[in-house]
Amino acid sequence: MAEKTAEVTMDKLVSLCKRRGFVFQSSEIYGGLSSAWDYGPMGVELKKNIQNFWWKEMTQLHENIVGLDAAIMMHPRVWEASGHVANFSDPLVDCKECKNRFRADHIDLSAPCPVCGNSGTFTEPRQFNLMFQTHLGPVKDDKNIVYLRPETAQGIFVNFRNVVQTSRVKIPFGIAQVGKAFRNEIVTKNFIFRTCEFEQMEMQFFVKPGSDDEWFNYWREQRMSYYEKLGIRSDRLRWHQHGSDELAHYAKDAYDIEYLFPMGWQELEGVHNRTDFDLGRHQEFSGKDQTYLEDQTKERYVPYVIETSAGLTRSVLMVLSDAYEEEQLEDGDVRTVMHFHPAVAPITVAILPLVKKDGIAELAREIEAELREDFNVFYDQSGAIGRRYRRQDEGGTPYCVTVDYDSKEDGTVTLRFRDSMEQVRVHRSELAARIRKEIKEYKRV
Ligand code: GAP
Repeated sequence: MAEKTAEVTMDKLVSLCKRRGFVFQSSEIYGGLSSAWDYGPMGVELKKNIQNFWWKEMTQLHENIVGLDAAIMMHPRVWEASGHVANFSDPLVDCKECKNRFRADHIDLSAPCPVCGNSGTFTEPRQFNLMFQTHLGPVKDDKNIVYLRPETAQGIFVNFRNVVQTSRVKIPFGIAQVGKAFRNEIVTKNFIFRTCEFEQMEMQFFVKPGSDDEWFNYWREQRMSYYEKLGIRSDRLRWHQHGSDELAHYAKDAYDIEYLFPMGWQELEGVHNRTDFDLGRHQEFSGKDQTYLEDQTKERYVPYVIETSAGLTRSVLMVLSDAYEEEQLEDGDVRTVMHFHPAVAPITVAILPLVKKDGIAELAREIEAELREDFNVFYDQSGAIGRRYRRQDEGGTPYCVTVDYDSKEDGTVTLRFRDSMEQVRVHRSELAARIRKEIKEYKRV
């Protein structure tokens, strides 16, 4: 068994992401745009797979949760009702010398400026709203201001009635959504952890008032076990309960799931008891009834909401951090390996003919075509086999299939496992079923 060597650092992750096509700096040829990142061929697969894993967990595996895909731009009154126009702000200070801007709660205001080193140069903290504004239509005046949504949740709340009226949902039920959100944050470092444009995976679960504490506990449990299913190391996950000074304006109780990122423990997902705040406010601001009538009891009420809110782009960073390992091999070599859960790995199977000649490459191409229907497959016939394995390890491909002279004789191939580096012979007719079984039963060792 290989020995683990160095711990992952952010520099190592950024470098691997660039080298292997996971994440690139936005507009790099123009010097980059700060805090904006693009997902390359490997990154987009990883991100989509994580999104699908979450979507399946929340919708397919919960019969009482339906999906939604709301627009990013919404009526501006939505954000007045939600409290974001009045409350969604950070206290910021400017350095009068170097003109840099900082979160007042992230630096020591009595210390010198962390950029230029001058003392006593900070302005008084001022509240800056985090919502990006633009104008809808050709005229730029206050009447047609719209915001880029700072959370996907409000798209769910304003569609509550539509969903109740058109789907056969009964309380308790949930609405799930994945999409972009935007916040004009002061972002200094930490790669894709905090960005101005990001993606969220949110689910709002509507419950009867009084049953909210019970459902809150249920969703806390569900969300933590989801990360275990995703193969995330449990010693790198923990809970953080919000103190009264941290609670968002809508929350009665809130817990973050934190992950031990390379820069330390940080929030990954929030589970919030939002009470009837949002539906109540939309009822008040829109004048439209947001109550729910219970069939059995004929009771009418504004439902309470338990929210689970995870960052998709932040989950990508978490999955990358958790997967990364450098291993000292017995032959003295060090291999970098990404231990992605096979269900989210960008490439599931690599097809590697041992040699190109004597019909081996053609046979490998046939096997590739057989597997392509079911899996994300990558074909590679160039270079020494050891080097090709290392390349797949670094990209996190869980299974390699090697085709050789015996394959021609008896129809078997070598199936190599990324984590253990063990190899078994499998008949090509059983390959797809075997890989499917391996994915289903995967446990990280
Ligand atoms: N609807 C509730 C809500 O938006 P939040 O705690 O502000 O709650 C939820 O955000 C999640 O969204 C966070 O746990 C994080 O994963 C992700 N997130 C928030 N701001 C982010 C940013 N600037 N960049 C990347 N992800 C972010």
